[in-house]
Amino acid sequence: MSFPKNFLWGGATAANQCEGAYDEGGRGLANVDVIPHGSERWKVASGERQMFDFEEGFYYPAKEAIDMYHHFKEDIALFGEMGFKTYRLSIAWSRIFPKGDEEEPNEEGLKFYEALFKECHKYGIEPLVTITHFDCPMHLIKEYGGWRNRKMIDFYKNLVTVLFTRYKGLVKYWLTFNEINMLIHAPFMGAGICFEEGEDRYQTLYTAAHHELVASAWATKIGHKIDPENKIGCMLAAGSYYPYSCRPEDVLAALKDNHKNYFFIDVQSRGAYPNYALKEFERNGFEIPYKENDQEILKENTVDFISFSYYSSRVSAYQYESEKTAGNIFESVKNPYLKASEWGWQIDPMGLRITMNDLYDRYQKPLFIVENGLGAKDEADESGYVEDDYRIEYLREHIKAMKDAIEIDGVELLGYTTWGPIDLVSASTGEMSKRYGFIYVDKDDEGKGSLRRSKKKSFEWYKKVIASNGKDLD
Ligand code: BG6
Repeated sequence: MSFPKNFLWGGATAANQCEGAYDEGGRGLANVDVIPHGSERWKVASGERQMFDFEEGFYYPAKEAIDMYHHFKEDIALFGEMGFKTYRLSIAWSRIFPKGDEEEPNEEGLKFYEALFKECHKYGIEPLVTITHFDCPMHLIKEYGGWRNRKMIDFYKNLVTVLFTRYKGLVKYWLTFNEINMLIHAPFMGAGICFEEGEDRYQTLYTAAHHELVASAWATKIGHKIDPENKIGCMLAAGSYYPYSCRPEDVLAALKDNHKNYFFIDVQSRGAYPNYALKEFERNGFEIPYKENDQEILKENTVDFISFSYYSSRVSAYQYESEKTAGNIFESVKNPYLKASEWGWQIDPMGLRITMNDLYDRYQKPLFIVENGLGAKDEADESGYVEDDYRIEYLREHIKAMKDAIEIDGVELLGYTTWGPIDLVSASTGEMSKRYGFIYVDKDDEGKGSLRRSKKKSFEWYKKVIASNGKDLD
């Protein structure tokens, strides 16, 4: 036994972390462009510090990123050489609608993705498209306040209608919002929200969440109507919470943290707000801003599959006296049984199997792992080659765990796309030196470098994994 036939092996990227060309092809400015590298990055991403345009004295890594806009043929050829069955990428909203509220789309932007999808199909690669990966046109932020405004639903509907219509026959797999739960942790990045003074943050965040959830359900409806072949999924920054101990208070803390995380997916997959959320809203005096036929739209348009990113499990304790650890934006209690990456993200392959089981038990829908990988510092030789055994080891152990989840536990899994098959800009830090790729890109944290692409040791390894459909992991 190995992985199912037609298992979708591949890699995943996001427009703002690889495309660059922020002002080419008629593209408008977006939130992701103005999130700088350096100490202010987190303040801007979380909506604490307003930065609605480029400011003197900052470096903005998304402006050029790895310039995939001009290199996509070369990059997709390399993915093809590795035998990718799928390539997950995202659409830069402001390439299609530069301001976001126009009625007519920007043809040049549409042509760019059309060429990219065609290039994928040349190599038998099925595109998997994230409609928005932390992406929001700046005009929609300045003019409407981002996703706190209900009008965003209509702008998003317009966007998806254009995408589903134009790319019918070219794209079948879609994700509505990348890591939709990130909205709560990084509101500017996840929802174009920069807090105003005195604003009730709780109200704002859950209002925006409602708007994204309704927009996501509309996308599912529109996508299915335009092409019944479309498979539309949600996307969660996953990683189950373990209780720090078997003390009931710790177990309850883990249950609550898991609820917080499942909240979005509960709505997207089951079609209604879960009771634990309704109770919390009641306690906080929040009323869900239902309008028109929102409830019906949510109910009738649940997702076809559950996609998620997994970098690590997390730990909950009822009293946070224990040491904490970093990890994919979420801070968690440190798990003493695990090692960590150079950025402090704990490494837990078995946690992937646990997370898969948790999600499958809860939703009973096929899963899709659309991000997983190790961000590490690579030492390239003169030819650009990297002996990245640590990356191979990380991926091997995670692939074994997912194989166990399929073979032993019977979890349905559609595919696996590693994060950043080609080195790209880190979302949390803005660095280039936090590398995930099988392909090395010559560029440093200050933006210097030739952008030359070269294969790492893991390139041949992953090629073998795919060719053997996951049997050969040595
Ligand atoms: C996920 C995001 O949170 O993690 C990606 O969807 C991101 O955009 C990835 O790049 C890895 O995080 P980082 O901070 O190492 O780039």
